[in-house]
Amino acid sequence: AAHDDGVLLWVRVPTQGEVTADAPRITRRPDAASSVAAVVEVAGTCEPRDIIANRLDPWHGSWFHPYAFSHLTVDEAASTDEVLTVDVTFRVSRTWGVPVRAEFACPDARTIVMTITDGEGAGSVVETHATPLGPDAAGRPRTMMVEATVATSERTGFAVARHLAPLLRPAMRSTARRLWVDDMVYAERSYLLRSRGESYGV
Ligand SMILES: [Fe+2]
Repeated sequence: AAHDDGVLLWVRVPTQGEVTADAPRITRRPDAASSVAAVVEVAGTCEPRDIIANRLDPWHGSWFHPYAFSHLTVDEAASTDEVLTVDVTFRVSRTWGVPVRAEFACPDARTIVMTITDGEGAGSVVETHATPLGPDAAGRPRTMMVEATVATSERTGFAVARHLAPLLRPAMRSTARRLWVDDMVYAERSYLLRSRGESYGV
C-alpha cells in the first residue's frame, strides 16, 4: 500500500512491534498553494528513537549548531508532556537573526513535528520521520531520517519567492542537510553509548 501526501510518498512496510495503520498520520501543514516544500534524507547507524531524541532535545540547537541557532529558551510554563514550546533565534549571519516561537510534538513514536507558531514564517512546519531500515552486515540498526520542511510566510515577498520554488529548494535542502550531518553524529553517538550500556542522561 502506498500513499502520496503531496510532499512525501509513503509505502506501508509491516514493522515488528508496531500496529499497521490504514494510512500515515499527516499533521497540519501550511496550504500547498502558499508554501514551499523541500525534503532531505540522511541514513545513520542508530534506532529511530535516537533521531527523535535528538529533535526532542531543544537545548542542543544552540551549542551543537551555533552557526544556526542562538538565544534558545524552553518555555516551561507553555510546555506540556505532549508539546515542547521554545523561543529561538535562527541565525542569518554572525550578528543578525530571526526570533521565532516554535512547538515540538510527536504525533507517533517515529515522527516529530516542529511548528513555528509566532514570528517570521509562522505556520511553517518541519516534519522529521525516522524509519527503521533493518540491521547492517554487522547487525547494527540502520535508520533513515526523512525531513520535510514546508515553509510559508505572510510577507508579500514570499509569494514572489514561492514561484521560484525550484531555486529555493536546493538552499532549503542544503541548510537542512548541514544540520543533519551534525544531528546524525548525535543520534549515532546516542545509540553507540546505549549499545555499550553507557548513558549520558535520563
Ligand atoms: Fe539539531
